[in-house]
Amino acid sequence: MKVTAAVFEEAGKELVVQELELDDPKDGEVLVRLAASGVCHSDYHVVKGEWGSPSPLVLGHEGAGVVEAVGPGVTTVEVGDHVVLSWVPYCGHCKYCNTGRPALCPQVQESAYQSVMLDGTTRLTRDGEPVYSYCATGSFADRVVVPETGAIPIRKDAPLEKVALIGCAVATGVGAVINTAKVQAGDTVLVIGCGGVGLSVVMGAALVSAGKIIAVDINDDSLARARSLGATTTINSAKTDLADVLHDLVGPDGVDWAFEAIGLKRTIETAFQSIRPGGTAVIVGQAADGVTVEIDPLVMSDREKSMIGSSYGTCHPAVDFPRLVDLFMEGKLDLDVLIARTGTIHDINKAFAAMGSGEAARTVIAY
Ligand code: APR
Ligand code: ZN
Ligand code: ZN
Repeated sequence: MKVTAAVFEEAGKELVVQELELDDPKDGEVLVRLAASGVCHSDYHVVKGEWGSPSPLVLGHEGAGVVEAVGPGVTTVEVGDHVVLSWVPYCGHCKYCNTGRPALCPQVQESAYQSVMLDGTTRLTRDGEPVYSYCATGSFADRVVVPETGAIPIRKDAPLEKVALIGCAVATGVGAVINTAKVQAGDTVLVIGCGGVGLSVVMGAALVSAGKIIAVDINDDSLARARSLGATTTINSAKTDLADVLHDLVGPDGVDWAFEAIGLKRTIETAFQSIRPGGTAVIVGQAADGVTVEIDPLVMSDREKSMIGSSYGTCHPAVDFPRLVDLFMEGKLDLDVLIARTGTIHDINKAFAAMGSGEAARTVIAY
């Protein structure tokens, strides 16, 4: 069948919207008609050339839609199901899956992270040549074929164009707080970077009744969004010295938790420098290939300061996505605040331009 998709060819070049051929779902795969896809900085890392990637490639990994067909052997999804796409198509039986860490499943590294399906091939072609699907998701297309464990059924009364964001930003950000860090009520939380991911960290912190929630960005609009999601203090670090404000707010020791949601050397180091003895910096943002950071290991041992990583919010998509959808439907997660603008697939390059110019939060592409 023909699909309309935004195709990435080469770093630094605009995506091109064109028709591609999509095969039927094979064993263990499902065909999903997408309602919407969010545009995430992880797509932009590829566009900017900060992460190597095969091409031609359909980017996008934060989608939701309706299942139109299932391949042989599919048991967990049915035609007509509403699904949020997940970019960790886990195997379900390795040691990582069995201990609730599907983002670490080797099958995910070998398929989604290589932008191919579980059998190493692609379902998309252009003039007979393979076209890759980013994260085995490729949600900048009106239809996708994905592995069964990459399509998570959710309740049918949830608006797909909003809950699409649960497939990356919300799972990543809220999950970092409730699954990775397990922040306790009253803990002090610093969030550096308030795009879709960082705002979701703020939402997660508010959800668990964190104490002070201090949000940092260089964009005042992003900070206003953070305030409306529960940040108790916002700091524009381009205008104000973060260390000074933190000292006034939490004293010389620092915060219990510092979440970095950008992926820059400087801000990762700032996150570590901002935590109290015994505190933890949680690295949620993903750095460009080759970036390294400098931290003082003596501070880690003597002051028991930690730095930990969080991938996909340590989520188990099959359990966490429906739960996050419920929280949204109950009014406990405000996804509207995360969405700065909506558009069509033809607005995809404008969405990246907005991200590159530092405009706030997410674009959602509707199909
Ligand atoms: N200091 C503070 N804030 C900054 C700085 C900085 N030096 N540089 C950028 N920011 C802010 C931007 O203003 C923006 O609000 O960080 C935010 C980043 O948001 P997005 O570009 O929307 O990125 P997002 O999609 O939220 O992803 C953030 O998480 O999953 C990863 O790959 C993803 O590394 C990316 C990160
Ligand atoms: Zn596994
Ligand atoms: Zn993402």
